[in-house]
This record gives sequence, structure tokens and C-alpha cells, in this order.
Amino acid sequence: MKKCVLVSGGAGFIGSHVTVELIEAGYDVIVADNMSNCDMTCFEGVKKITGRDDIPFVEMDFCDAKTTEELFSKNAIDAVIHFAGFKAVGESVEEPLKYYKNNLESFINVIASSKEHGCGNILFSSSATVYGEPKKLPVTEEAPRQPATSPYGNTKQMCEDILRDSVRAYSGLKGIALRYFNPIGAHPSALIGELPRGVPNNLVPFLTQTAIGKRECLSIFGDDYPTPDGTCQRDFIDIVDLAKAHVFAVRRMLEGQMKKVYEIFNIGTGTPLSVMQLVKGFEKANGLKLNYKIGPRRDGDVTAIWADPTLANNELGWKAERKIEDTLASAWAWEKHLAGE
Ligand code: UFG
Repeated sequence: MKKCVLVSGGAGFIGSHVTVELIEAGYDVIVADNMSNCDMTCFEGVKKITGRDDIPFVEMDFCDAKTTEELFSKNAIDAVIHFAGFKAVGESVEEPLKYYKNNLESFINVIASSKEHGCGNILFSSSATVYGEPKKLPVTEEAPRQPATSPYGNTKQMCEDILRDSVRAYSGLKGIALRYFNPIGAHPSALIGELPRGVPNNLVPFLTQTAIGKRECLSIFGDDYPTPDGTCQRDFIDIVDLAKAHVFAVRRMLEGQMKKVYEIFNIGTGTPLSVMQLVKGFEKANGLKLNYKIGPRRDGDVTAIWADPTLANNELGWKAERKIEDTLASAWAWEKHLAGE
């Protein structure tokens, strides 16, 4: 029998790409989302890409314990991947309680219902933000976590701890936290991608919106960092590659291959790219010129971070594969798709 995976926050950017990969790998998927930060564009795209019109979709809020409980009691869920959560760093500083309440409560409800209904496998979408400014690069999973610089970052650390403590305490539960570096790009079909509301916070959506003329100019936040070209360095990971890592992680849980009840994996390429290199790479990959300028540094940005993905490579058998040119071309194709071109 096919195993069933619940994807909370499955209509969003990462969730929709993961849903596609899970379905293509032969899993049954239930998508659940409260639609607080997305519309049906990506879920419709998922149906087109997979050719499946019957993917179960539940509009619900995981902060509602009763609805969460009902979802688990009505469906035989074998594993859950938890994406549902707020993710704007700046907003979390302004409205910390909104972030703590939403991001912690929803995850606690998911774990509690998993425990009650014999769903033993919980995957949490964490972030490289837990490492802060790493002392050693590339960063391994062994690197100490640094005090979070935003309530958003803090919820990632707290949710990791909630998962770790829960799987240790309640027999039958296992957990994996995937620490994402910087996911960018879109599905090669250009039918799903990132859909930020308002002014994008993240580099690539701002860049593509500038290229299409929605924004006048991209500001590069600082060129006086102690890096080779003075701009920050990140590990930009293709969204489809990142989505595939979830399939490997879910399979590892479902097939009893975990070595501990709680495991953590870095999901990155292992290769740093500077903001300037990414901008230049985008221009080259798409044969266009971008309007950009050097602006002041942004508060809270770390200078440089990239992954040591050895553990994920060896243990999950997963590796980032897509070429950066293709990733940047897919980001542009998605922006053009949104513009109806
Ligand atoms: N950047 C610009 N101009 C922009 C937007 C971003 O120069 O308009 C730069 C940033 O300064 C940074 C790099 O591009 O050096 C990447 O910025 P993003 O906002 O795209 O990504 P971050 O590395 O800041 O974000 C990551 C994760 C978040 C996490 C955050 C914590 O994607 O989930 O780190 O700092 F919360």
C-alpha cells in the first residue's frame, strides 16, 4: 500500500515543490494550508505538473488543535512534513507574539496529533539561520547554534527542540530536521515558484521583479563585507533539489533507516556564491542587464554562510545537482509566467 504523507503548508513555495516530488516518487499526499500567505496558484500548478486532479486539499489552520486532531483521525497518515509557519524575519521582530503563537502552537498540535494517531514520522523544515554567523565554514551540523537574532529564527530553534524532546520522550515517534540554506528558483515547468506578497524580502524574488520592471532597482545590501568581492556569501540551493531531499528523508524514516530517533541534516550545495556573483550569474543566464546599485548593509545579515552537506550526501544519498544557470533561468521563467509572458 502507498504511504501517505501530510504536507502542512503545502500550498506555499517549498511545500508545493515537495508535494510534486513526493507524488512523483509514488507517495499519497494530503496538502493542508490555511492560505494565510499564498493563493491557489501553486496548488493548481502542482496538479498540472503531476497530472493529478485528485490530490486531497484541506484548508485549515494547524493552530486549531481540534481540526488538526480531526485530520489525523480521519486519515491514515504515515509521515508529516511541517512547513506551516510565518517566515518574515522583519515582521517577526515587530510582532513577536504572532510568530511565537503561530509557529510553536501549530507544530505542537502536529506532534500531539501524530503521537495520538500513530503517525511516527515527523519532518521539520528548519533553517541555516540557527547557525547565526558561523565561526567555521563550511558549516556542519555539529556547529553550535547561535542565539537567534529574530523571533522567526528563534521559532526555528525552539521547534527543533520541541521535536527533539518529543521524539525522545514518546516512543514510536521519530524526527528529522532539515536545515535549509537559501532556496531559490522554480520548477522547470514554470508552473510553481515563489509568490511573495508585497515587497519581497529575499534576494531572488526582488531581483526577478526588478528584471521584469515591477521594481525599479535592486539594492545590494553592502559591498564592504570581508568577503572576496565585498558582498555577502550564501549557499543558494535549487528549490527542486531541496524538495528532493525531503523524499530521501521521508523514505529514510518510513523504511526504518534512521540511526537515531532525531536527526539533523544540512540541505545546501556546499558551494558559496556572493550576492554580486548571483546577480551577474542571473544576467548571464538570461541574457539581460539588471538595474542594481550598492546600498547600505541590512541589519541582521550574516557575512557568509554555506553548508557542508556531507552528512546529507552520505546518509540520505541526496546531493544538489541542478546547475546554478538553470536555477536562475527557472526563476526568470517563473517571473515571466506570472506576468503572463
Ligand atoms: N540581499 C540584497 N538585496 C535584497 C535582498 C537581499 O542584497 O534586496 C542580500 C542579503 O543582504 C543577503 C543575501 O542577499 O546577503 C540573501 O538574502 P535573503 O533575504 O534572500 O536571504 P537570507 O540569507 O537573509 O535569508 C536566510 C533564510 C531565511 C532566514 C534568514 C535569517 O532564507 O529563512 O536567512 O537571517 F530567516
